[in-house]
Amino acid sequence: MSVEIVNLPGDEAAALVSPGLLWPALQARLEARLVTVMADAVGQLPFAPADPAATVAALVREFYGLYPSRPVTDNKGGSGFNDSLWLFVLARLIAPKHILESGVHKGHGTWVLRRACPEADIVSCDITLKNLIYHDENARYFECDWTDPRVELSTWDRSRSLIFFDDHISHAQRVREAKVRGFRLSLFDDNLPVETIYATGGPPLPTLAMIMDESLAPGCEIAWTRNAKSYKYRYKAEDIQGVSDVIDHYFMLPDLAPINRYSAGSGLSFVQLAE
Ligand SMILES: C[S@@+](CC[C@H](N)C(=O)[O-])C[C@H]1O[C@@H](n2cnc3c(N)ncnc32)[C@H](O)[C@@H]1O
Repeated sequence: MSVEIVNLPGDEAAALVSPGLLWPALQARLEARLVTVMADAVGQLPFAPADPAATVAALVREFYGLYPSRPVTDNKGGSGFNDSLWLFVLARLIAPKHILESGVHKGHGTWVLRRACPEADIVSCDITLKNLIYHDENARYFECDWTDPRVELSTWDRSRSLIFFDDHISHAQRVREAKVRGFRLSLFDDNLPVETIYATGGPPLPTLAMIMDESLAPGCEIAWTRNAKSYKYRYKAEDIQGVSDVIDHYFMLPDLAPINRYSAGSGLSFVQLAE
């Protein structure tokens, strides 16, 4: 048994989804497995298309085609393939007129959102824009928190707006801020259940998964280790007071890593707030 190995020229290698498949028939099999899981999830969302399997299959195909042209090829500290695929599919299906992205990092998420929603107004906020690689010429950038008065959103139609929270700030705080400002549709990244809270640096505590977990008693102390440091967090009742009451729909998207073996997803979750 022997395997033929060929070194690809740099530009050819850059244009591939790597690691990945080169034989279309196997790629189709992989996509079919992704679509089975994704269409089942999408079918449970309020904006589910009439035929989730066919719609999701077309979007997965489109995203695999787009991904090699991503301007941020090393997105360490930001979204990987699986989170990006979910972000693309959900943003396209929600089809918002306005998008607020909180937590921009190198700009990869903005690129995904722009590919999903070419006509949308995009506002991208980060407390530092020094890592930006992809700059969307039609997006408005703010180097501050999205609640800063400089981030002018008063003309936005709240019923057609989507917020993507990927900033490692408390999910309870972000839900309250969105509710007070009349926003209803949002996606939250890094929504880790308490038993895997160590999986990201600076988790957005308390996460939605913790807030929705009725078996997790407020008052308990949560401690974990990561990168040779130990962390401790007291889960307080006042931190989550009233948060679950304003959530109409909560859904954590399934991790696609067991299917395609790319890095584990970050618990990207859809939230619809009450009117
Ligand atoms: C995980 S990265 C964002 C990744 C990006 N959305 C992507 O898809 O690749 C988190 C970012 O949140 C930013 N951040 C931290 N505090 C923030 C805040 N209060 N408002 C907005 N962004 C914040 C950090 O500076 C960092 O760039």
